[in-house]
Amino acid sequence: MNILITGTSKGIGAALAEKYLKNDHQVFGISRSHNNSLKTHENFNFLSLDISDFVAIENKLPAFIKSVEGFDLIILNAGILGEIKDLKDTSLHEIKKVMDVNVWANKLLIDICFENLRGVDQIVAISSGASQSGSRGWSAYALSKVTLNMLISLYAAEQKRTHFSAITPGLVDTQMQDYISGLPDDEHYPVVQKLKKAKNTPDMPAPSEVAEELIEAFGRAMHYRSGSFLDKREL
Ligand SMILES: NC(=O)c1ccc[n+]([C@@H]2O[C@H](COP(=O)([O-])OP(=O)(O)OC[C@H]3O[C@@H](n4cnc5c(N)ncnc54)[C@H](OP(=O)(O)O)[C@@H]3O)[C@@H](O)[C@H]2O)c1
Repeated sequence: MNILITGTSKGIGAALAEKYLKNDHQVFGISRSHNNSLKTHENFNFLSLDISDFVAIENKLPAFIKSVEGFDLIILNAGILGEIKDLKDTSLHEIKKVMDVNVWANKLLIDICFENLRGVDQIVAISSGASQSGSRGWSAYALSKVTLNMLISLYAAEQKRTHFSAITPGLVDTQMQDYISGLPDDEHYPVVQKLKKAKNTPDMPAPSEVAEELIEAFGRAMHYRSGSFLDKREL
């Protein structure tokens, strides 16, 4: 399979890339920084790109994907959390920065792939339970992920030959969680407390432990209506 994954330098994206490469698939990875263990793999094609730079996406993505006729799977995984704080204390500028990476870069990426390729079988966006919960503190991130879910739903209505889904991966022990576990205790943000407790327990497995489950979930997602928002733990 030819698989495009954003955010392959670390965390969930790196673990997914590693698993797919082990199974002899061609992986096209995008992130700002390199991942040393993926870098040397002969089936790993890497584009160093800041996806918040829309001009750079337009300039570099078509050349990067020109060697393939289409992708079997695109995983829109790259994402940023922004600061955990109340919405009233989150500036529009901060919200925009999170939206640029978590939503608008994905729109551009999808558009460029459809313009330049013969077809894409499946597109999965890595979403979050925060897109549904309305938990205090998750401000810009929650807004971005709920918009991402709708972006996926809207494209599903337009592109009938591609299967779309937005999937939550569950808790995964990555740098994103390192930031959360470093936050001070604050009774206003009970979800932060919950995540801090889950860190270093089986409730928050390492990316390498969840990659296989996620790959299986991507396969099962194909049985659901295109455009669905799905939770990996229920798939
Ligand atoms: N970890 C969890 O518990 C959890 C739970 C729910 C949802 N998620 C979602 O899962 C996805 C992966 O998160 P993670 O936990 O693996 O986070 P992570 O370890 O922080 O990795 C994020 C990845 O996104 C890339 N990225 C960030 N900004 C970028 C930019 N401007 N341009 C290009 N690439 C960029 C990073 O690469 P560079 O920094 O090298 O650019 C990195 O490879 C995210 O969408 C996140 O919202 C995670």
